[in-house]
Amino acid sequence: MILDEIKEAAAYLQSRVIDGTSVGIILGTGLGGLVNEIEIADSIDYHEIPHFPVSTVQGHSGRLIVGRIGGVPVIAMQGRFHYYEGYTMQQVTFPARVMKLIGIKTLFVSNASGGLNPGFKVGDVMVITDHINMFGTNPLIGPNMDEFGPRFPDMSETYSKRLIKKALEIGEAEGLNLKTGTYVGTTGPTFETPAEYKMFRTLGGDAVGMSTVPEVIVAHHSGMEVFGVSIITDSGVPGEIVEVSHEEVQKVAAAAEPRMTRVIKCLVTCA
Ligand code: HPA
Repeated sequence: MILDEIKEAAAYLQSRVIDGTSVGIILGTGLGGLVNEIEIADSIDYHEIPHFPVSTVQGHSGRLIVGRIGGVPVIAMQGRFHYYEGYTMQQVTFPARVMKLIGIKTLFVSNASGGLNPGFKVGDVMVITDHINMFGTNPLIGPNMDEFGPRFPDMSETYSKRLIKKALEIGEAEGLNLKTGTYVGTTGPTFETPAEYKMFRTLGGDAVGMSTVPEVIVAHHSGMEVFGVSIITDSGVPGEIVEVSHEEVQKVAAAAEPRMTRVIKCLVTCA
């Protein structure tokens, strides 16, 4: 029973996280540098945690960092699980459920994505204001776990307006040139064809990537406040599309990472 597995993982982690930890962070491709801002108290390899999936993709180390940012206790997942790796939606969202059970109230998620909005440049940081689920499935399919949330969850404010407002204030004050927009989540592992980028733009997307949406759905279902940020690592805008590789995505993400880190650090410590 999946609920028992979530509870076992949570019980294990409870004994290792700092008491009172209410902030969880999931770091995306090339965005692990935020860990340098954490005063690390402990580091837990995923394989130590009962029932936790193990990450395979290059650029994702697969450990949970326990520590403090500016005195505030946090846990940060360095390496997430992607649907394209072959994990089930239950496995992809397992950590988000475990976070809920250990008392995480605010979840920060980051990712690398392709830009769809013609006003975006490669290297821009986009605060996620909404998403479109294009995975063709949903992590909440199956018997509802009533302990987490309702059968038919409202999604009218999935990304915290309070944190978005605060992030934009920080961006303004520090000249970070933050963008805002809708993130389209798709399975991957292929990047988009030009026709697909165009379709996602037509559908209302500003950026497209292969993660985030499953974890955010589960986190929101269970009542967590969610803040998401996306680094535009390549362009899907007609006329700007060039060949894209995972290496390039990692490189651009790493270069933009300090601006993203600035925002998250400030939100964690002053929000
Ligand atoms: N498409 C999908 N996922 C991505 C992209 C992209 O262009 N860039 C980084 N992740």
